[in-house]
This record gives sequence, C-alpha cells and structure tokens, in this order.
Amino acid sequence: MNKITIKKLKEYKAQQQKFAVLTAYDASFSRTMESCEIDAILVGDSLGNVVQGHNTTVPVTMSDMCYHTRCVSRSNQHSFIIADLPYMAYSTPEQTLENATQLMQAGAHMVKLEGGDWLLETVAMLTERGIPVCGHLGLTPQSVNAIGAFQVQGKTSEEAEQLMNEAINLTNAGISLLVLECVPSSLGKKVTESLSIPTIGIGAGSDTDAQVLVIYDILGISPGRPPKFVKNFLEESGSISGAISAYKSAVEHQTFPDTAHQFLS
Ligand code: KIV
Repeated sequence: MNKITIKKLKEYKAQQQKFAVLTAYDASFSRTMESCEIDAILVGDSLGNVVQGHNTTVPVTMSDMCYHTRCVSRSNQHSFIIADLPYMAYSTPEQTLENATQLMQAGAHMVKLEGGDWLLETVAMLTERGIPVCGHLGLTPQSVNAIGAFQVQGKTSEEAEQLMNEAINLTNAGISLLVLECVPSSLGKKVTESLSIPTIGIGAGSDTDAQVLVIYDILGISPGRPPKFVKNFLEESGSISGAISAYKSAVEHQTFPDTAHQFLS
C-alpha cells in the first residue's frame, strides 16, 4: 500500500479527485483506517469532546495531543497524519515551534492550527523550517468562548470576504491544506476555487476538495444531537470498517455531503 504524502493530496486537487479524511485518536481505529485506505487522518483536539468527555476542546493539552498522535502513527503506514496544536499551544512563534516539533516527533506529518491573519508570521516560520502546516478557518472551536456558540460562520458578505482574504493570506504564508468548518456551501466553493492548495470541508458543502468528519460521528456514538453536516454511515453498512469504506466511497463519488448535510445559502 502506498504512503500518502502532501504531494499526493495536491495531485488529487489538480486531478479534481475528492478525498476523504477522518479523525482518529488510537491505534485500533488508525489501523482500521489504514486497511480501508483512508488518505488522511486528523488527530483532532475534538478528542477533548469524544474521548475525554469535555464540552469544548479548551482543556486539551500538548501532552494529550502527543500521546494520541503516537498511538495513531504507530499503527498506520499509509495515511497522511495531521495533528492539532491544542488551545494556547501556538500563542507565539517561539512556543509554536517548540510544540509543533513535539507533534512531528510524535509521528505527525503536518500540524494544524486555528485562526487567520494573526498566524501569518507563525505559519511562515514553521514552513521555512520544514514543518508543514494546515490552516483552519470558519468555525474555530478553540475560540468558542469568544464566538459565543458553535454556529455557522461567514454568512454575511463582510464575514465571507474576510474569510476569503485570510484563506489567501494563509496560503501565501505557506499552509499546504486548509480546513473550512461550518460555512455556507457557496463560500466553501468560492474559497476552494480560489486556492491552489486542497481545502478540507466539515459542514462546508460538497465543493471542497476533501471532507473530514469525526470518526465517532460516522458511527453514531458521539454525545448529544449530531450537527447537520454529520451522517451516520454505520446504519447503512453494519460494521466499523464498512462504515469507514462507505464514507470514503461517498466522498470520492460526491454523494456525500448531499443537500441535507450542508448549510446552503
Ligand atoms: O479537532 C477536530 O476534530 C477538528 C475537525 C472538526 C476539523 O478540528
């Protein structure tokens, strides 16, 4: 089985081939995703919600992220592994370099951070030193206390324009991938068409280059009522590996997300 690299993910975009990303936090799910040939795995700080039982990602620490990144990377030789820098782990460029180094040494192939223009210097510093970076715009869960709620972002023309400008600025600063979370589908499409790098949507419509979902969401075992963009793939497939393969196939054949799982504007 081939090892997926950032070069391959960029080729997918050039060939207009959609690809599937899932979160994983442990060796068993990571191994199952390897056997299903999932192209990329996000060791997300969503582990704060689905593994640790918190209401937000704010309590997640660097030590948590390094532990789960090691668990995931140990049992997967195929997928490209992105690891989240958690809350307050990238407040200054110096702190970010130290923490991003730890995640790369734990087995990540790329680090992800949430935010826009305030991160440009940090992104340039990491990429100049050979640490690939994934951006994250739209709903940025680490800022939930500043935003006030988990809700769709970029709905007004001013917010949409700001998000678009920040996506372009982050790309120019050096990010190689961009997660777009909870934005209207029309904005997901516009940003995707404007960037040379792949976009990964979660609640960002069907036109992003890739989709990402939380593994426990596609298995229907996440706490609380699932958000609109979540689909339970276990119901239709009957096994965990069947659900993962069904999700991958639906993303690649563009049957997911359908209109019921998007924020149409
Ligand atoms: O932590 C996470 O799982 C994420 C995804 C929701 C994109 O950042």
